[in-house]
Amino acid sequence: MRVLAIETSCDETAAAVVDDGHRVLSDPVATQIDVHRKYGGVVPELASRNHVVDIVPVVREALAMAESTWADVDAIAVTRGPGLVGALLVGLQVAKSLAYAHDKPLVPVHHLAGHLHAVFLHRPGEPRPAGPAYPHVALAVSGGHTALYRVEDAARVSQIANTRDDAAGEAFDKVARMLGLGYPGGPVVERMARGGDPTAHGFTLPRFKDGGLDFSFSGLKTAVLTAIQRHGALPQGQDLTDLLASFQAAAVAQLVDRTVAAVTEHGVRDVVLAGGVACNTALREALGEALGARGASLHVPRPRWCTDNAAMIAGAAAALAAKRAGRGHDPADRRVNAVGAWQLSP
Ligand code: KG4
Ligand code: ZN
Repeated sequence: MRVLAIETSCDETAAAVVDDGHRVLSDPVATQIDVHRKYGGVVPELASRNHVVDIVPVVREALAMAESTWADVDAIAVTRGPGLVGALLVGLQVAKSLAYAHDKPLVPVHHLAGHLHAVFLHRPGEPRPAGPAYPHVALAVSGGHTALYRVEDAARVSQIANTRDDAAGEAFDKVARMLGLGYPGGPVVERMARGGDPTAHGFTLPRFKDGGLDFSFSGLKTAVLTAIQRHGALPQGQDLTDLLASFQAAAVAQLVDRTVAAVTEHGVRDVVLAGGVACNTALREALGEALGARGASLHVPRPRWCTDNAAMIAGAAAALAAKRAGRGHDPADRRVNAVGAWQLSP
């Protein structure tokens, strides 16, 4: 099954052609990072306008790179949400128009279902990743989301925990902004935290009275702000490195703590780490170690497929289609809608 997918939920205009849910033939991305950098974050209206400019060339490029014509494409997939509404609308309208014009089925895909599927992707000629067994626990960490899921199969996913305020990536972006380090914050914070003392500031782990596994990053963000104010001026040199290392260590410690607790609670042996923050080496290493010590395995997509891309959307669409074909639609299953996409609200 060959799927062409479109992803425009935030600031990347992406298209991809993927075979059988895992072989990525092409996945061009037109990034808008330079457009938004001077504002220190994504400006929704500018994102929508740039998607309009970039989407048709990117779709053409995806087909050309995959040496495909429309006749070779079995279905068109598109991110249906969550995301910036104006940005999503551009991808959805283009996907709907293409599906209508070329008489192809249209598969709307939940953005997070895409992130969770990225771990199964590979290039033609490379070995197919073993991937996690079902059921498994997935930690999705991006600029917009920080959540833990129990993944029963490609179509049945339930949320275990969510952030009560900021997303982890958002915390990296805001801390970078406070310190005038630019956008996006994650990669620059990770780079500048190297060689810092992660214990220089005693940032604590948030706990909730109800004992839930939810995340919270606003307290950590405020603690960083307080440390900056106490310092008097914007920290430089080793002070800056230590502050960033302490912030990163606290963010990572919280993500590891909740994920390990979820693994214990749900008795699974496999964990998927997905989303832009999954690029973070300190997080990959700490989580891999903590899970390894408990006999569990960590599965992480390659960095290109951790951040927003359309290959993950194409892959998730094919997996959903295969799942549905295999078992038929169960009308009692409220988590699966008429096209097999997640019913989690955007
Ligand atoms: O998944 P993604 O591309 O877009 C969303 O769906 O949000 O994630 C982008 C987020 C940004 O907040 C960015 O700062 C963060 O991922 N990020 C990182 C790293 N690389 C990207 N955070 C921490 N460390 C990194 N190396
Ligand atoms: Zn994303």
